[in-house]
Amino acid sequence: MKHSSISRWKWARLSVIVLTSFGIGSTLAYAERAGDQSEVNAAALYSSRCLLCHGPGGRGPQLSAMAQLKRDTIYSILAVGIMKKQAAGLSAEQQHALADYIGRKGSPQGAISLSPACTNRSSNTGLGGEWIGWSPDFVNSRYQPSPGLSPSDVPALKLKWAFVFPDSASASNQVTVARGRMFVGSWDGIIYALDPSTGCSYWTFKTDSGVRSAVTVVGQTAYFGDFLANVYALDTDTGKLQWRTKVDDHPYARVTGSLVVNGELVYVPVASLEEGVAGDPQYTCCTFRGSVVALNRNSGSLAWKGYTIDQTAKPTGKNKAGIATLGPAGVSIWSTPTVDAKRGALYVATGNNYSGPDVPATDAIIAFDLKTGVKRWVRSQRPSDQWNASCLGDKSNCPDSEGPDFDFGASPILVQLSNGRSLVLAGQKSGMFYALDPDKNGELVWESRLGQGGSLGGIEWGFAADGTRAYVAISDWDIGDPSKANGSLTAVDLTTGKELWRRPNPTDTCAGRQPVCSSADAAAVTVIPGVVLAGSLDGYLRAYDAPTGKILWQYDTNQDVTGVNGVAGHGGSVNGAGATVSGGLVFQTTGYAAYGLGIPGNALLVFGVPGKDGSAVTPSTRN
Ligand code: HEC
Repeated sequence: MKHSSISRWKWARLSVIVLTSFGIGSTLAYAERAGDQSEVNAAALYSSRCLLCHGPGGRGPQLSAMAQLKRDTIYSILAVGIMKKQAAGLSAEQQHALADYIGRKGSPQGAISLSPACTNRSSNTGLGGEWIGWSPDFVNSRYQPSPGLSPSDVPALKLKWAFVFPDSASASNQVTVARGRMFVGSWDGIIYALDPSTGCSYWTFKTDSGVRSAVTVVGQTAYFGDFLANVYALDTDTGKLQWRTKVDDHPYARVTGSLVVNGELVYVPVASLEEGVAGDPQYTCCTFRGSVVALNRNSGSLAWKGYTIDQTAKPTGKNKAGIATLGPAGVSIWSTPTVDAKRGALYVATGNNYSGPDVPATDAIIAFDLKTGVKRWVRSQRPSDQWNASCLGDKSNCPDSEGPDFDFGASPILVQLSNGRSLVLAGQKSGMFYALDPDKNGELVWESRLGQGGSLGGIEWGFAADGTRAYVAISDWDIGDPSKANGSLTAVDLTTGKELWRRPNPTDTCAGRQPVCSSADAAAVTVIPGVVLAGSLDGYLRAYDAPTGKILWQYDTNQDVTGVNGVAGHGGSVNGAGATVSGGLVFQTTGYAAYGLGIPGNALLVFGVPGKDGSAVTPSTRN
């Protein structure tokens, strides 16, 4: 879904000869410089086994981005992690050679770079206005009613401290603030518990793979999922593992959305990388089925599993390379589910079908029964949308009835209006924004076209709603040239669906930003009373006046920064997660290298108003 762009591909194709020869050329030049035989072999191996996806126009991070990773991290990604299938058949020696070739030379091996240990062991400093996961609440409003910041404070925000994820090329994780602590995961799979005011360190926890989901805190437990579909429950005070459960056996299953809790159950959205690996003509496409899994909070045992597709995949024929095909598949849940405690329902947003035949839950909002997992209703906005990454490449596995890839990648929001009426809000990559009636099986109340849409266009990772208005970020990545995306922020009246204002992004922000820069607003939006925060793939984080859309403050995250953990790093594209606001502070992760989408980076930035929270604030030079 989200991450493979028809538009980017077309753009890449226009310059495919130049770019491809540059990619291979620079690979070989690197090996020749190193001047040793194993380097040359590794370069050849890389060209034959990895370049297809990690070269220009591919969906994996580019060599330059992966060069920031430590060699032992790359080795474990190949040996046991998300690239295990891609590295299958290579000897351990070859995998080490590849890791040496790609990764940072002379990097310290294995150690986690920590900030100084916190001396204050108290875990509740009474910050108030907690932000407990993807949103401050489980209706996914992304509205923080008590931020500790007023609209007049916002122009005075300055960088207070930063943290650098030493071994990541991307940082797109939503920050959690709860129990007086700040929690964040990283693409290299480490969970950090830090002090929100200073960044000192309480504990870390190492997972088996990468983490993109927010850490969800309820009571004294922190819940999250990883790239291999493992779910973990940790003690928030000590970081000690309480339980761990694998929620799906498919080799490409993963958790990208965040978990939510209701009563004794914790709910896990399950998506997969299969949509991407289907780009390989030799891959038997496709068998994964999207699902939401309910686990018992205290033990991690399975309560129920609700699939988006009712039937398992059946053989459907052969692909253009003669390899068997199966389907239906996909209909993943990429985002965080939404709890409707009053109606006893759980709403999830689904993506496209990977391989067909058509199924009713494609590109849909589905209501599951919170207790039993029974499907109550399905509201699809595109029942026929068969698509996978092969449609960007040689089309061997691309379904004959190729769809537009119009997932719902953003979490639904449940809002209650002042007239008492409830709505389920849903934003699609088609650029459409919908209000559904939860009391009438998801019947359409209104719809509004906010963007032109596209495979990486329209509404990507999320919007926010404060009960009166929704604030919606538009990506609208441009087909001809990513640097000219029509990124914007809009405000929508919740009673009518009418657009109240629109603030297009400046389009001149990309000069010198590599390898891919665009002014698309793909990251999730955040709202506090009077102010909306939205980030862009060009690296800017902006604060807007909620009534008018006027820009109150902006910060260019695309710059060098040194973390409180003593590591030098860099900001880049803001994507995926939006700002977290709690205790008068604004937390934003920055950097996105995956899928050839943006500017790599590995930083967490924390902003505050000098003097306001009683501690010193580092002056910033480039607001
Ligand atoms: C079929 C396409 C494909 C092939 C072939 C492939 N990769 Fe990948 N790779 C990806 C994608 C897509 C990602 C991003 C996955 C994600 O994080 O969602 C990725 C991620 C990675 C990462 C993690 C990067 C990070 O920032 O965390 C490493 C390391 C990696 N690949 C190495 C390799 C190597 C080495 C090879 C060759 C042996 C290879 N890959 C072959 C598609 C591919």
